Amino acid sequence: MLSGKRILLGITGSIAAYKSAGLVRLLVKAGAEVKVVMTPAAREFITPLTLSTLSKNPVLLDLVKDESGQWTNHVELGLWADVFVIAPASANTVAKMANGLCDNLLLATYLSARCQIFFAPAMDLDMLKHESTQANIKKLISAGNELINPTYGELASGLTGHGRMAEPEEIIDRLKSFFSAHQPLKGKKALVTAGPTYEAIDPVRFIGNNSSGKMGFAIAEELAKQGAAVILISGPTHLQTTHPRIKIINIVSADEMHRAATYHFPQVDMAVLSAAVADFKPAQKATQKIKKTDAGLNIELIKNPDIAADLGKMKKEGQYIVGFALETENELANAQKKLQAKNFDLIVLNSLKDPGAGFSHDTNQVSLISPTHPVKEISLRSKKEIAIEIVKALTELHA
Ligand code: C5P
Repeated sequence: MLSGKRILLGITGSIAAYKSAGLVRLLVKAGAEVKVVMTPAAREFITPLTLSTLSKNPVLLDLVKDESGQWTNHVELGLWADVFVIAPASANTVAKMANGLCDNLLLATYLSARCQIFFAPAMDLDMLKHESTQANIKKLISAGNELINPTYGELASGLTGHGRMAEPEEIIDRLKSFFSAHQPLKGKKALVTAGPTYEAIDPVRFIGNNSSGKMGFAIAEELAKQGAAVILISGPTHLQTTHPRIKIINIVSADEMHRAATYHFPQVDMAVLSAAVADFKPAQKATQKIKKTDAGLNIELIKNPDIAADLGKMKKEGQYIVGFALETENELANAQKKLQAKNFDLIVLNSLKDPGAGFSHDTNQVSLISPTHPVKEISLRSKKEIAIEIVKALTELHA
């Protein structure tokens, strides 16, 4: 179950840090790839050498590695991990996590991680009982982090009570059930593009379109519900999402969406490209508001990058791309051509002719086309239901 899984283990300053060595051993034995990140205080309890030897990877300690200014990329570390387990999580680190503090590498990684996070508190019973600690733990849980409950027993202080870090075996069991639960996309990462793009003409005007982003947001929600960690790159919309496994990157222009999508694509297992990306942008953005004149105005337009086509070229084995097509004539043939040209694995054909389908509506009517399966027609229904069908088809491709 844990074989090949990328597990980032965060260790903080608690006496229970000695148990982390056993945890690393068990994880490596189970076939997982383990990287360890430690807070400065954790080094007082267990040496990096012990953990690098057991994990077979250098231990990550500081944001800045050495005097030459080399730094550890916490964003990449957070993207690398399938899960981030903070064990032991001291009262201090729990408080900092709950409040967004970021004064060491572990915390910076926590704030930028896109994967599921587990935390296993370890502290003295009164510290755990304290209302501040309890409030912090609640806050972390409501932000989507999974608590691995501390257990009852003798504590380092000599007192007896709740506060012992869960045993490594129990932590392993939690991770196993995380990866095996009936969420077919658990442990997977997905990228979704949604909404329109705005292409600036001058500081106050732009070329845009009527895309509401509803389809893309519904797809992101459904992917997250099925267990995936989702990066949602969205153009300007009025929509919001609160799912803890969805990270939104807000962009405005096609160039910005292109930059974000090509940056994140290598890390994901699948991409669903539902954004209505502007095909053209003004050749130049005027630095001042363009003045009204009696003469007309010509705006030279140049091509925008084709994000879908570029991701199609970057696609590696094991990655899947779903694209959309909005056609008004020869719909099926044109969609099939696009499927091939952009190296998609599935294309969702929208038909604008159907009343209630397409831009801004809450409903849609589509056909799902893949090179390997017969065309599947989905009659008019809510975008949420269409999203379920698209994610189901994607999951089947991925199986
Ligand atoms: O070529 P066309 O715009 O019809 O292709 C539609 C598909 O390509 C959609 O999935 C859309 O999100 C994507 N696309 C893109 N970048 C563009 C244009 C379209 O990702 N510049």
